[in-house]
Amino acid sequence: MCGIIGIVTGKPVATGLISSLKLLEYRGYDSAGIATLQNGTVWRERAAGKLSNLEKKIRVNGLGDGGIGIGHTRWATHGAPNETNAHPHIIGDVVIVHNGIIENYQELRGELLKNGAKISSDTDTEVIGHLIQNQLKINDNVETAIQAAIGMLRGAFALAIMIKGNEELLIGARKGCPLAVGIGDVEGHYIGSDALALSPFSRQIVYLEEGDFVFATKNTFKVYNESGELVEREINIIEQQSAVMDKGNHKHYMAKEFFEQPDVISHTLANYIDMDTNQINIDSKLDITKFNRIIMVSCGTAYYAAMVGKYWLEKTTHMSVEVDVASEFRYRNPPLNEKCLFIVVSQSGETADSLAALRLAKEKGCTTVAVVNVPTSTMSREADFILPTSAGTEVCVASTKAFICQITVLAALSIGFGKSLNILSADDASKMTMDLASLPRLINDSFSVEKEIIKLAHNIAKVEHVLFLGRHTSFPIAMEGALKLKEITYIHAEGYAAGELKHGPIALIDEKMPLIIIAPDNDTYEKTRSNIEEIAARGGDIMVFTTQKRAEEIRALGLKAIALPDSSDFLSPFVYTIPVQLLAYHTAVHMGTDVDQPRNLAKSVTVE
Ligand code: F6R
Repeated sequence: MCGIIGIVTGKPVATGLISSLKLLEYRGYDSAGIATLQNGTVWRERAAGKLSNLEKKIRVNGLGDGGIGIGHTRWATHGAPNETNAHPHIIGDVVIVHNGIIENYQELRGELLKNGAKISSDTDTEVIGHLIQNQLKINDNVETAIQAAIGMLRGAFALAIMIKGNEELLIGARKGCPLAVGIGDVEGHYIGSDALALSPFSRQIVYLEEGDFVFATKNTFKVYNESGELVEREINIIEQQSAVMDKGNHKHYMAKEFFEQPDVISHTLANYIDMDTNQINIDSKLDITKFNRIIMVSCGTAYYAAMVGKYWLEKTTHMSVEVDVASEFRYRNPPLNEKCLFIVVSQSGETADSLAALRLAKEKGCTTVAVVNVPTSTMSREADFILPTSAGTEVCVASTKAFICQITVLAALSIGFGKSLNILSADDASKMTMDLASLPRLINDSFSVEKEIIKLAHNIAKVEHVLFLGRHTSFPIAMEGALKLKEITYIHAEGYAAGELKHGPIALIDEKMPLIIIAPDNDTYEKTRSNIEEIAARGGDIMVFTTQKRAEEIRALGLKAIALPDSSDFLSPFVYTIPVQLLAYHTAVHMGTDVDQPRNLAKSVTVE
């Protein structure tokens, strides 16, 4: 949430700040702002809404030639997403941008107001600015003043700060939210929310640790830990990432990203399958025989990926596999010990609740695994084992290719664990591995339903509610389908286990209620077929996603069906992900909503 960039090069920084904000817009797009410092003057522009609004203002008003500047894209936490609340905030000599939430902000604000402070926005950020300004009045040393002010904050934050009269100095601080320092490829220093934001300028990145402060000038940077000690942090060399940030010949990133799925599945599988021997390769140190329980934790789409994984892992490990949303897991005091294998699933590797759950599991002695897409993320750095999803950068806020890569990894892991535990014979494991290796082709074939889905989407665009139903691994796919639809079309949608329908939701069914039923031809098909008939008897508007053979039977009943390619039961959640993604996308395109940046959302949720 919220993206931060800071640049100190001594040469005009405004253009660089805008390029970086473009890469950060995925973190929030409620408002954006930039400030530069030049000869004691602050040049600042802010605009509500997307970055393009800010760019328009800067084209008209300019941003000076300052050699130091900070920028921000906002996902609102305190205060409406308007220009007054947009960052950077200027308080006296302090110019500041912030990502995170200050928990004791009301208390601090009250105290400041009592002492006569004038607070003009509703943000917690402005409060931090006042604290720093007050400390600057009583401390000659800027470093001491910053450390004293930030020491008063409770909560999670990443900050970038400039001080009028100190045009050489760019300041950063982090606690709970990520912040990295880039050493300029050509010159200067940079601070940013992630390596992507720094990628136009820097390949050498230092990830700040919890409680760190950085004081950077054009030529030097110093990092202090929370206790105020000067520390050295490792310099990481990062590959160029910004080249992938274009839509190719697609209208939206979402389309580009879901059509990339066959490719990114191949890349992901390459990490786990030895194609010569048809064996799954999982780090041998990740020894499943040491555990008696698996716990998987994640949020949103990643949670549905974990739910699919649960069906597989229970089958191949015979262990109890628990799946929870991170925001619940961390507060319910779960019993954990060293016999638990804890798996966090996350695209960004930064989601605040998932990260907190990972830390809790570590603290309680679990071995931790991160199924994660961003290799430089905090989770990648903190988990005991990393299982990468090689989906590449996902720009669209709604996750598509990352989800399919997450289930790819969990499928490979299930085979690997099943074999290590001798629950899967070598022969069965090898057959499942060959099946998995056929996924890129199968997914490619699944896109053949696009034309039929477009027709369906035009009807769905007219309704207010949609139900998605499925059994077994199709149940999480039904929930993912509902999430995708509501996220990008704002149509209310719910996913249910088909067998649960009679226990309440069936009351919703009438001729105005469309139901998308995900019914691959597997062991539960007959049960789902009975549910289809129950719904038909009550006049529900049914569309069944199933195989060719079953689609013909359904159509013979006078109902609608779309036929997906035949696959094994193991691979069906992959195949049936494609029509639900296409449905959400084409409905949104037809309705004209903002597909890549839906309202109120942000790509990386780094606040609780
Ligand atoms: C939905 C979506 C979100 C994320 C969730 C977790 O399309 O993208 O529900 O899946 O916010 O994010 P990560 O995977 O980054 O932890």
